[in-house]
Amino acid sequence: PTALAGRHFLKELDFTEEEFRGLVGLAAELKAEKKAGTETPRLRGRNIALIFEKTSTRTRCAFEVAAADQGASTTYLDPSASQMGHKESVKDTARVLGRMFDAIQYRGDSQAAVEELAAHAGVPVYNGLTDDWHPTQMLADVLTMTEHCPRPLGGTAFAYLGDARFNTGNSYLVTGALLGMDVRIVAPKAYWPAPAVVERARELAAASGARVTLTEDVAAGVAGADFVATDVWVSMGEPKAVWDERIEALAPYAVTMDVLRATGNPDVKFLHCLPAFHDLGTEVGREIHARHGLDSLEVTDEVFESPHSVVFDEAENRLHTIKAVLVATLAGPPVS
Ligand code: CP
Ligand code: NVA
Repeated sequence: PTALAGRHFLKELDFTEEEFRGLVGLAAELKAEKKAGTETPRLRGRNIALIFEKTSTRTRCAFEVAAADQGASTTYLDPSASQMGHKESVKDTARVLGRMFDAIQYRGDSQAAVEELAAHAGVPVYNGLTDDWHPTQMLADVLTMTEHCPRPLGGTAFAYLGDARFNTGNSYLVTGALLGMDVRIVAPKAYWPAPAVVERARELAAASGARVTLTEDVAAGVAGADFVATDVWVSMGEPKAVWDERIEALAPYAVTMDVLRATGNPDVKFLHCLPAFHDLGTEVGREIHARHGLDSLEVTDEVFESPHSVVFDEAENRLHTIKAVLVATLAGPPVS
């Protein structure tokens, strides 16, 4: 068994810097193996439950393909297919699934629910996104940054623009702090991560040598950045009614070519966990376009489609990094 055998992954800070970097390194090895056509299945006979109380393209597909590549099987439970939290408690669901499966992935709004599952399942539980954290996304983003940065990530400058008081904003802040990066949150104060998250990031920074900056000033926030990232301004589970206030507050924080130029770094890379409103051709996008007359929201199409953008490498890396989590926690003889 590996050093992480049997472990949960509920938030980034479940792992030390070394463990986190180890998982990213394992993902790089598994990626190379798959590309070379030499992948060996390490998870034959394992069964993984995938509970999705919110929709997904990347996370679900990454878990399913990663498991299949490694010889494991998955069972997908959507909100209407599971009794959890509606007719049956999270604790009981955890104890039932724990008897049948070797691991459980959970995506939903509540961090408390994924922690409750982990407390009672008796098998590894993975957070596939809650309102608080998006830890598997961070592994993919760190792998992507490593691939696109000639220098070690420690000390590189990472600026996140937009709504930073939700899962990805919180996750970027603590991950950057854990890994010793110069991490900047660039957003109106009302959209900064909660004080407890900022405090935790500052503690991590003291140990790792990271710099933690929170600013409302876009030009100062992105100056010298190696990476610029953003996320949707309205997250899954939030009411439609908040679109108007979000657009008003966050429009100055959209990632445009001017923002990339303001970094002063011609090689700056753009990250987005996706889905993205870089054009408004989708169902929700068309509604917003009709109402506000905008052509894009958190990132312009020009940036999204530019050579700066590494968003599809990032999306692909969800597969390799989620595979690393499965292999690290499940490979070897079954953990009883
Ligand atoms: N980035 C991400 O988690 O995408 P999905 O919502 O499609 O899983
Ligand atoms: N903040 C976004 C991330 C989607 C992957 C959401 O929660 O909807």
